[in-house]
Amino acid sequence: MSERERADDTESATAATSEKLVELAKRRGYFFQSSGAYGGVGGFYTFGPQGAALKGNVEDAWRDRFAVAEGNMEIDAPTIMPEPVFEASGHLDGFDDMLVECPECGESHRADHVVEDNTEYEDAESLPIPEVEEVIAEYELVCPNCGSGLAGQAVETFNLMFATNIGPGDSDPGYMRPETAQGIFVEFPRLKEYARNQLPFGVTQIGRAYRNEISPRRSIIRTREFTQAELEYFIDPETDEPDLSSVEDVEVTLYPASEQNAEDGGEIRTTIGEAVDEGIITSPWVAYFLGVAKPWYDAVGVDMDRFRFRQHLSGERAHYASDCWDAESEVDGNWIEMAGFAYRGDYDLSKHGEHSDDRFTIFKQYDEPKTVERATVDPDMSYLGPEFGGDAQAVVQKLEDLAARDRSAFDGDAVEIDLEGETHEIPVEKTGFAVEEQTEAGEHITPHVVEPSFGVDRLVYTVLHHAYREDEVADEERTYLELEPEVAPTFVGVFPLQNDDELESQANEIVADLREVGLSVTYDDSGNIGRRYRRQDEVGTPFCVTVDYETVEDEETTVTVRERDTTDQKRLPVDDLAETLSSIREGDLEFDEL
Ligand code: GAP
Repeated sequence: MSERERADDTESATAATSEKLVELAKRRGYFFQSSGAYGGVGGFYTFGPQGAALKGNVEDAWRDRFAVAEGNMEIDAPTIMPEPVFEASGHLDGFDDMLVECPECGESHRADHVVEDNTEYEDAESLPIPEVEEVIAEYELVCPNCGSGLAGQAVETFNLMFATNIGPGDSDPGYMRPETAQGIFVEFPRLKEYARNQLPFGVTQIGRAYRNEISPRRSIIRTREFTQAELEYFIDPETDEPDLSSVEDVEVTLYPASEQNAEDGGEIRTTIGEAVDEGIITSPWVAYFLGVAKPWYDAVGVDMDRFRFRQHLSGERAHYASDCWDAESEVDGNWIEMAGFAYRGDYDLSKHGEHSDDRFTIFKQYDEPKTVERATVDPDMSYLGPEFGGDAQAVVQKLEDLAARDRSAFDGDAVEIDLEGETHEIPVEKTGFAVEEQTEAGEHITPHVVEPSFGVDRLVYTVLHHAYREDEVADEERTYLELEPEVAPTFVGVFPLQNDDELESQANEIVADLREVGLSVTYDDSGNIGRRYRRQDEVGTPFCVTVDYETVEDEETTVTVRERDTTDQKRLPVDDLAETLSSIREGDLEFDEL
């Protein structure tokens, strides 16, 4: 049986889908702008009951794949961190966007977006500020709010971090973390112990990040508070290699930087294995995680015909990355960045090592102990003490560093060191300089980091957008979300056909049975059955179960089970219902096999 008439008319996303989706999201409780009672505030969204459940399911699926299946640890760090963390990470100095202010209405805009939206430039973010100012003048670009000319306006940098004070007063500044990653990096000295000091190991975190975006836009695509799911994977760059054999056959659409720069460049369809062999993806670790991510995106409901990996152009990369590929989805004709896969090298651990008193290295044991020559100093403190007073210890440190770095500096009678801008000469005989043979069991190395960084909100948006369908059922237009059962907020709706004690009681028993096996169930007894189906279709519930008079009157207790996409209906025994629906949810059984 099917109530659906024109299945072929099913439309996937069209140019106007975003508008319809945002309206549906608000009406059905997916997401809506926060603090509406106070006029709302740009860039902050609340996930309603459906949205929170969908987002939670996506996060669970991410955790299963990137933490559990990969054998990585998960942590949950604070969202506010003290200023020194961001001095070290480079965010205080370098986490900026380009801002241009309208001279007439005073509205602030992202200068690179004004350029990209109104010229043929696709990646204005990578242009230097003077060039952006020139493009604004040359194209006579105007304020998107009031239409006044922006030529001649200074383009400035604007730091995206939200500042706060930790405790009373302003002596202890802190910031809302702009990425969850720093919460992992700063705990590296402890996390490496949990990993028994063995590389490689990975640490994941799913949590909120905050960016004071100049112009938040396109609903939950660019917000000021959002959720990231990040994996920081620590490797020994000399010896660790990923298991590429497990992903080498994964087919991918790639848009490398070279193709973006070429006049007639385009996307390349290939496999992960070939992309590595041909040097298109240079880091095998980045390639490995792209290979893991692609089937995962497919499984949670991203349309693979509207999905690609795009390499960052050199001017576009974040301050910490030496290479980066984005996972992008197509939404209403635009490509949006859902995740970044960056090779961060030793940038973060080195910086935290330099700025803090802790050790951000790992001890790497040699296969066999090595005998090496080491230059050492053993300064005469009875000389340094009276000469340098309170600075004597700093002088010792300088001498140690110099001996390790440049032993030829000790060749003459005196050695030179710089102390707070002043050069001092120290007799070599007072330094205790010597070159000794030492046997070493290993060395301290700074691991490199490979980082798959997923934006959960943009993924939720993509999943909804790619699932949005319109068709006609029983001469009526219908909207439904073809969500994957694994992520759908509600898996099954249960309805008594009419307001009747016997039907209601049977329906409630079924609800309890289904909930007991862990299925997400909603009970609905309001309005006619057609309207109840439409409501569940619109929130993407894969199945509806209707309890009718046959259920309570026939000898064998059966119910009608209706499938969302085809609207096909089958009669199934109540006794097997929980098991059957669970098997479908787990992917072990198809509805049409019943
Ligand atoms: N730790 C690396 C990092 O944060 P990113 O590319 O800046 O990298 C990762 O962010 C992901 O976070 C992006 O791919 C995007 O999905 C999401 N994201 C970034 N800014 C966002 C914003 N303002 N609103 C929603 N999602 C955002």
